[in-house]
Amino acid sequence: MRRGFFIAALLLIVMLFSQVAAAADEMLIYHWWTAGGEKEAIDALLEVYQKQNPDVTIVDNPVPGGAGVEMKAVMKSLILAGQPPSTFQVHAGAEAQLYVDNGLMDPINELWEKHGWAEVVPQDLQDLLKFNGDYYLVPVNVHRANLFFYNKKVFDEHNITPPTTIEELLEICEKLDAAGITPLALGSRYKWEAAHLFETILLASAGPEFYVDYFQGKARATDPQFIEALTVFGKLIGYGNKDHSAFTWDQAANRIMTGEAAFHNNGDWVKGYLTGAGYEAGVDFDVFVLPVGSFGLVVDGFGLPSGAPGRDATLRFLETILTPEGQQAFNPIKGSIPARSDLDDSIYDEISRKMMADLAQDTLVPSAVHGSAAPDAFMSDWTDVIHRFLYTGDVEQTARELDARAVEHGLVQ
Ligand code: GAL
Repeated sequence: MRRGFFIAALLLIVMLFSQVAAAADEMLIYHWWTAGGEKEAIDALLEVYQKQNPDVTIVDNPVPGGAGVEMKAVMKSLILAGQPPSTFQVHAGAEAQLYVDNGLMDPINELWEKHGWAEVVPQDLQDLLKFNGDYYLVPVNVHRANLFFYNKKVFDEHNITPPTTIEELLEICEKLDAAGITPLALGSRYKWEAAHLFETILLASAGPEFYVDYFQGKARATDPQFIEALTVFGKLIGYGNKDHSAFTWDQAANRIMTGEAAFHNNGDWVKGYLTGAGYEAGVDFDVFVLPVGSFGLVVDGFGLPSGAPGRDATLRFLETILTPEGQQAFNPIKGSIPARSDLDDSIYDEISRKMMADLAQDTLVPSAVHGSAAPDAFMSDWTDVIHRFLYTGDVEQTARELDARAVEHGLVQ
C-alpha cells in the first residue's frame, strides 16, 4: 500500500517535471510575416535561433494580414484571456507602450546591459524601445515608410525622372495617365494600405514638423496644412486603380511589375517582396523618397510578455534577434536595414545602403500607421475614416471626422 503510494507520487513528480521541462523548451511566437519576402525573412531568423538552440521547440504562429491588422486583435484577446504567447511582434513606440503601461510586459534591461546594445543601436531607435527608463523591446529591423516603388522600364520609356516634390509627383501622374497607363497601384484590402499612402502624403505635403505635431495632438485635422494634404490625397487616389479593395499591399505592388500600374507607395518590405519574386532592384524596379530629407520610421520588435511560457527560451530568442547573425540573416531578405549600426553593409543592395545613409542624417519621423507615433485605438479609427475617404472624396467632412476622433480619444482637447 505504502509502496503503491510512493510509486504514484513519484510518477506524479516525474510527470509534473517533464511538463515544466517541455514548457521551458518551447517558444510560442506570433507575428504577421506571411507575404513573400516577409515569410522567408522570419524563417531565416528562426533558423539562426534554432541552430543556436537545438533543444528548443519553436511553435510558430503567423497571422496573415499586413501591418498586423489581424494579429493585433488576436494578441489582445489572448492576453486578456491570461494566455500570452512567449513573444509576439509589436511595433516600437506607442503600440508597445500600450502593453507596457498596462503592466503586461517585463523589462529586459539585463539583456541590453549584458550585450552593450546601447552602444550599437542608434539613440532615436532606443527612445522607441524604452518606456519609463526601462528597455522592453529588442528591434529586428528598421523599415522606411515614405517610399514609392516604380517600374523602371515604364519610367524610362516615358522619360520620367523620379519626382522630388508632390507637385512633380502629380505632373508625372498626369503624363502617365495621358499615355494610358494607370499611375498608382493602390490596394485597400485591409484598409491600412490607403492610410499608409495618406500618412506619406501628409508628411510630404504638410512637412515633418506638422506631421509630428498632429500625431501628438498639437495640430489638428481641420488646420489648413491637413486640408491641403487631404486634397492632394484625393487627387492622387484619382490616378489609382478603382478596384483597390481587392488588393493587399503585395498584390498591389505586384501590379507595377505586371505593367498594370507604374508606381506603388509602401515601406521597403515591398523590396523584400519584389526581390523574393525574382525582380532586380535598380534594374526592374527602383524607388523614390517623398518627402526628401524625412525618414518615416517603422521598427518591428519583440519583447517578454509577463507570465509568458518558455521564458528562458524566449530570452535566448531576444538575444538572437540582435546578434549580428540574426540581423544579417533577416534584414537583407526583408528589405529593411539592421537595427545596429556596426554591421557589414556589403551584403545589402544599393537601395538599403542609401537608407542606411539617410537614417544617419534625415529627420526621423515615426510612422503612425505602423504603430510608433500615436495610440492604437485612435489609429484604428483614423484608418477607418481615411479608408472611407477613398469612396466619398469629401475633404471637409473627412477632416471634421478625424478631428472628432482625435477629441474622442483625448489626443486634443
Ligand atoms: C509593417 C511591418 C513590416 C511589414 C509590413 C507589411 O507594419 O512593420 O515589417 O511586415 O507591416 O506586413
